[in-house]
Amino acid sequence: MPEKVALITGAARGIGLETARLFIEQGWRVALVDRDSEALKDATDGLNETSSFICDISEPKEVDSMVNKVTSTFGRIDAVVNNAGVADFGPIETTDFAQWRKIMQTNLDGTFLVSQACLPTLKKTRGAIVNIASISGLRASTLRVAYGTSKAAVIQLTKQQAVELGEIGVRANCVCPGPVRTKLSNAVHSPEIIASYHDAIPLNRYGSEREIAEVITFLCSDKASYVTGQIIASDGGFESAGVGLPALRT
Ligand SMILES: NC(=O)c1ccc[n+]([C@@H]2O[C@H](COP(=O)([O-])OP(=O)(O)OC[C@H]3O[C@@H](n4cnc5c(N)ncnc54)[C@H](O)[C@@H]3O)[C@@H](O)[C@H]2O)c1
Repeated sequence: MPEKVALITGAARGIGLETARLFIEQGWRVALVDRDSEALKDATDGLNETSSFICDISEPKEVDSMVNKVTSTFGRIDAVVNNAGVADFGPIETTDFAQWRKIMQTNLDGTFLVSQACLPTLKKTRGAIVNIASISGLRASTLRVAYGTSKAAVIQLTKQQAVELGEIGVRANCVCPGPVRTKLSNAVHSPEIIASYHDAIPLNRYGSEREIAEVITFLCSDKASYVTGQIIASDGGFESAGVGLPALRT
């Protein structure tokens, strides 16, 4: 049985890189995709069983060429992890169209484009798609007009993929991480936001990249062979807690 191959976008750092490491531990080979060539080079130094591919996933031509290269390098793709994402928080009144498009282009367009380009190969392997959304796609909150809307759209895109691609044996699921300390969150989480998250999350802490990667690799594995169309929050209980009135806490 040939080793399975995972294509991970945004794999140069953060959740994507940790997911690559976990796949390798589990015997997979990994195509690391990112637009940041320097970070990608640092990430792949010392990682066996990988090849790296520079690509901006919001550019259709770059995506087609990247997927062709991945397919000819590895001969197959068994799982696609649409993890690349960008965040930019701002109020509805002042978020301009350029900011809105920047978020949509990577978070939503990129997820659509990479999944579509991988379909011919995924069909052959009866593979899996895992899209990375966010708790911001499950619950609305201030300043996330573009980011939260893009992630809610990723959740719906996952359901569309699951329903339409089930017939050809391709599964699609979505992971919604709670806060994780990465370059992305460090740029938008002030000390006040960090303290508020600790307070609002039942497990009282941020998650780790590894905790998110464990859910992603499970959904890509045969252990999840009857799981499709699911939206799984790996969020320390944040979504279940709702408002979590301090006066009602034990
Ligand atoms: N960190 C968190 O708290 C958190 C919470 C919820 C959801 N998420 C989601 O998890 C995913 C990973 O986030 P992270 O925190 O590891 O971020 P990160 O910023 O550490 O890593 C994201 C990677 O994606 C790459 N990337 C961005 N746009 C790209 C594009 N157009 N083409 C190719 N590569 C691109 C970046 O170069 C970077 O290497 C994102 O989708 C993010 O929205 C993160």
